[in-house]
Amino acid sequence: MHSDQPRMIDLPKIPDDRGNLSFFQNNSHVPFGIKRVYWIYDVPGGEMRGGHAYKTLKEMIIALSGSFDVVLFDGREEKRFTLNRSYVGLYVPGMIWRHLENFSTNSVALIAADQLYDEAEYLRDPELFNSLRLA
Ligand code: TYD
Repeated sequence: MHSDQPRMIDLPKIPDDRGNLSFFQNNSHVPFGIKRVYWIYDVPGGEMRGGHAYKTLKEMIIALSGSFDVVLFDGREEKRFTLNRSYVGLYVPGMIWRHLENFSTNSVALIAADQLYDEAEYLRDPELFNSLRLA
């Protein structure tokens, strides 16, 4: 069964006249322990990132600046999440095909993951993904 579902997670927001502050911590605001953080930026207009799944890796995606869409496919259904708030994260478990598109100018995507970088975690062949998903 694939009971761990993608979902939007509201993060703490500490409003302040000096500027707002948000944060997330291991195992509380994100449902996993963080091992790696990376970010995607300077995306040229019309470009797409991702276009793969992870076997078991869990991640949280946040639009730190600007906006973009995360399109998720669980083998049956496609769902589009528009991220445009720096205090909202999208949690994505393993075995979900995902790509990011519609990046606004100067947008920054922050991604926290529960694993170190390992190419062996990637599923880059959609047919293999679909066959594993249906298995
Ligand atoms: P990739 O995950 O394929 O990018 P996308 O966000 O479009 O899915 O990664 C692109 C390249 O960057 C690839 O050669 C692997 C490298 N990379 C790392 O070395 N470390 C990392 O943490 C990540 C995410 C990618």
